Amino acid sequence: MEGALTARDRVGIQDFVLLDAHTSETAFLDNLKKRFSEDLIYTYIGTLLVSVNPYKELDIYSKKQMDIYMGVNFFELPPHIFALADNAYHTMLAEANNHFILISGESGAGKTEASKKILQYYAVSCPSTTLLDNVRDRMLLSNPVLEAFGNSKTLKNDNSSRFGKYMDIQFDIQGDAVGGHILGYLLEKSRVVHQNHRERNFHIFYQLVKGGEEDLLHQLGLESNCQHYSYLVQGECANVASINDKNDWKTVRNALFCDDIHSIAYWVIASVLHLGNVQFEPDSKGYATLNNSAELLWLLGVNVQVLQEGLTSRKIEAKTDEVLSPFTVDHAIYARDALAKAIYGRTFTWLVNKINDSMENKDSSCKTVIGLLDIYGFEVFYVNSFEQFCINYCNEKLQQLFIQLTLKSEQEEYEAENIGWEPVQFFNNKIICDLVEEKHRGIISVLDEECLRPGEATDLTFLERLEEKLDSHPHFVTHKLADKKTRKTLERGDFRLLHYAGEVTYCVVGFLSKNNDLLYRNIKDVSLQVSTHVASQFKSSLLGLTDILMSKEPWYVRCLKSNESQQPGQFDDVLVRHQVKYLGLMEHLRVRRAGFAYRCRYDVFLQRYKPLCPATWPYWRGVAAEGVEVLVQHLGYLPDEYKMGRTKIFIRHPRTLFATEDAFEVCKHDLGKDRKTKINQEVLFISTKIETCWRGVQARKAKGRRQWAVKVIKKFIKGYMARGEAKTTDNSEYLAFVRQNYLNRLKDNLPKMVLDKTSWLTPPPVLTELQLKGITSVIFKGKKDSYPQSVSQPYVDTRISQYIVYSIPIVKYDRNGFKARPRQLILTQTAAYVVDDAKIKQRVLYTTLKGVSVSTLSDGIIIFHIPSEDDKQKGDLIMQCDHLFEALTKLSVVANKIVHSVTIASMKAGKEGIVEFSSGQESMVYKDKNGHLMVVSDAVTAAERGLVACSQTCLCCLGQLLWPLPHNLPQIWDQARAQLVRITCFLLTFILAARRMSRLQ
Ligand SMILES: Nc1ncnc2c1ncn2[C@@H]1O[C@H](COP(=O)(O)OP(=O)(O)OP(=O)(O)O)[C@@H](O)[C@H]1O
Ligand SMILES: [Mg+2]
Repeated sequence: MEGALTARDRVGIQDFVLLDAHTSETAFLDNLKKRFSEDLIYTYIGTLLVSVNPYKELDIYSKKQMDIYMGVNFFELPPHIFALADNAYHTMLAEANNHFILISGESGAGKTEASKKILQYYAVSCPSTTLLDNVRDRMLLSNPVLEAFGNSKTLKNDNSSRFGKYMDIQFDIQGDAVGGHILGYLLEKSRVVHQNHRERNFHIFYQLVKGGEEDLLHQLGLESNCQHYSYLVQGECANVASINDKNDWKTVRNALFCDDIHSIAYWVIASVLHLGNVQFEPDSKGYATLNNSAELLWLLGVNVQVLQEGLTSRKIEAKTDEVLSPFTVDHAIYARDALAKAIYGRTFTWLVNKINDSMENKDSSCKTVIGLLDIYGFEVFYVNSFEQFCINYCNEKLQQLFIQLTLKSEQEEYEAENIGWEPVQFFNNKIICDLVEEKHRGIISVLDEECLRPGEATDLTFLERLEEKLDSHPHFVTHKLADKKTRKTLERGDFRLLHYAGEVTYCVVGFLSKNNDLLYRNIKDVSLQVSTHVASQFKSSLLGLTDILMSKEPWYVRCLKSNESQQPGQFDDVLVRHQVKYLGLMEHLRVRRAGFAYRCRYDVFLQRYKPLCPATWPYWRGVAAEGVEVLVQHLGYLPDEYKMGRTKIFIRHPRTLFATEDAFEVCKHDLGKDRKTKINQEVLFISTKIETCWRGVQARKAKGRRQWAVKVIKKFIKGYMARGEAKTTDNSEYLAFVRQNYLNRLKDNLPKMVLDKTSWLTPPPVLTELQLKGITSVIFKGKKDSYPQSVSQPYVDTRISQYIVYSIPIVKYDRNGFKARPRQLILTQTAAYVVDDAKIKQRVLYTTLKGVSVSTLSDGIIIFHIPSEDDKQKGDLIMQCDHLFEALTKLSVVANKIVHSVTIASMKAGKEGIVEFSSGQESMVYKDKNGHLMVVSDAVTAAERGLVACSQTCLCCLGQLLWPLPHNLPQIWDQARAQLVRITCFLLTFILAARRMSRLQ
């Protein structure tokens, strides 16, 4: 709207709803002309796009232009076909419903070009993947193929579509184009056998003959000369300056996506050309005979059935003679042409089906579609026949749909916005649709009845029937029914329909035969077969089309021809006025202007015009609707000039809006001055904001990274600490790491020779299991059935739940007589055992162990204090151990206690013994004569350590290492662990840094 409003004086109004004289056709045309002279070929009527054919290339369809229009609101940029395509697409995505774009206009107005632009826009703007690109390519390539087979040069258009086309583009929920489907309507088959002066047959014939490779033409029995074929020369314009058949041939050949389709299509085209050259002569009885069967042989040569039967050319000749004999020459020519038309028509349908197969979306999940309808516009020629009748009927139906949908959507919008609907006068063309299609009374019904009626039915008897049935219809006139004045303008074989777009006179000649679409199905029986009645078939396909369209949201492109001579820069007022009329544009504008010229969402309106009111500038903090109300009050809108809807403001007259816009222009100029300073402030404010946000983002990222690192390190440490235990979730990753590390090292340090056992890297403990598995393999592999299952079972050190944590040889001294006995001390998780060759001599539960004593000297004596009240025990346990520190540290850890204080060892009551510690020359332990156990330590060591020999009578001088005092064990552990963590962290950081460095390199 912005652009529309500001540029309104120079280039006319970009939206006709803003035209003050909205009922004036002259004002409408002036606006179109003004814009056309500036190469502005598009103008809106609300959401309808009017397009005027410029007949010259404009630089408005580039990729850059597409980018500009992508995702932009309809009215924010100058009108364009891309804006319409983009809005249809985004509305479809937002509302998840189906849409169609109806492109209409007379022949040469630019419908096909418009539909191609829309398709190209979707091809560029929709998301893409390889799969989707494939579908998209097929959709784009379908155009040149269908144009080659369905378009031809006519007097009005060098590339006129001779069929109606409806194409569904299917989108998935993300908006990707995932498939397509085409419906073709009423191909003008008569063109295959007959062309008017200065008109051509379908493009494909000329493309093949002129562009086809020598080999191919030879295979098909064709000459590279259009003059050779009677179906190509009737219009006397096989060569057209604006058409390059050779180049087009290459495009089509590349676009025909599969070899089968290639060859079938070529053979069919060739067979039609050969058929056209078949000539007949009357024999003595007046029956048709072939004067030259060579062409027919080519034709039959392509018939697969004939080839399969393996008939010789003689046989074919015999057959053709037999077949053709009952025909008159006229009949034969008629049959030949009917066959040619039928072949071509069916090939076209087959081709459309093939294209559909190639674009089919196999995924049945939910999709939405945008349908593109490029259909023939209203046609009025000097002589109008059956084809024009069908085409104009089609336009009546579409006009009906258009009015219904436009009125419906307008009414619905008013209702949704809670604005009273003011009824609009419009021409309801239902009466004309009924005149054509009504059962029993309508023109099509009468035509079908006449075609089926026994007896001599002719085009003129059909006209008589019409006159009988429709004699008083206000939209039907014939020579007989007309008043005196009108009669002068009608021939006897004419009927005239008063279409919504104007009067059209049809000549009934050929109506019956064209409607019958006769084909000699079984030439031998010479019976004429009616395939179906063409008009009825067309009627039902149109009803199908209307159903398809009714279930979708409409968008319209109305194409206008600027002049008949297809020249750039010429604007033929009369011609354009005529089209404006029969395209119902004024009607549409009236409906769109019913009540209000302009409507706009509150937020959009406020955003644009807020500088006009101090209360809304620079910010309006409240609800947008209230802001708009304040704004328009400030601008002095009268109550009659606007209405507040639920989400939009409705403005009755364009002048109110223009006044607002002019005020805005002035205001913008003033604001421009203050703007620089304001912009600077805003830039500063915004940059600070961005910086803060950015820092926050970075900090959050760093925090995330730290948390991750802590987790990894923790896991690593846990794994390290539990590396000796059975595999758990805690240590599995660590063990895997150790294994991998070992294998990596091994890879680089393999021994030179297999048998060299010495230079194998020593595996870490977790891998000793692997060695064991190796040994198992040597012993058992292939020899014992259960061996394979054992491979995945890990080996453990013990399968006894009370497994041994530590064991050491000791000398135990009897309490009676201190006799020395060699034993083993075994520590499990719950108790200490004194064992003699696998026989348990004594068990001391850690829970009952009162304390442990050692001396301060360098001897290896350990005394376990056992409560005297425990009857099962024999008193304190005196041992001598060569690895005292190791043994007692292990004991402390496994029993979770710390030996700390001096405790007097005592023997069981009544059986007390004395241990005397002293230093001497040589360490020894022996029983003295006094019955004491003498423990002598190395004197040098003792002296060096400053130890004093203890009294010989008691154990009170025993060392300082005794428990129980468990409270500081956790602290000691923590200190140890912290130290370990520090070391590991350092190592890990180092490793990670090294890895990153290596990756960067
Ligand atoms: N937007 C455009 N820009 C430039 N030239 C155009 C444009 N639209 C149409 N033309 C020109 O007009 C010619 C006719 O256009 P087009 O074939 O699209 O007409 P049509 O409405 O499809 O006619 P028909 O009903 O006969 O198929 C094109 O070949 C092209 O030369
Ligand atoms: Mg066309």
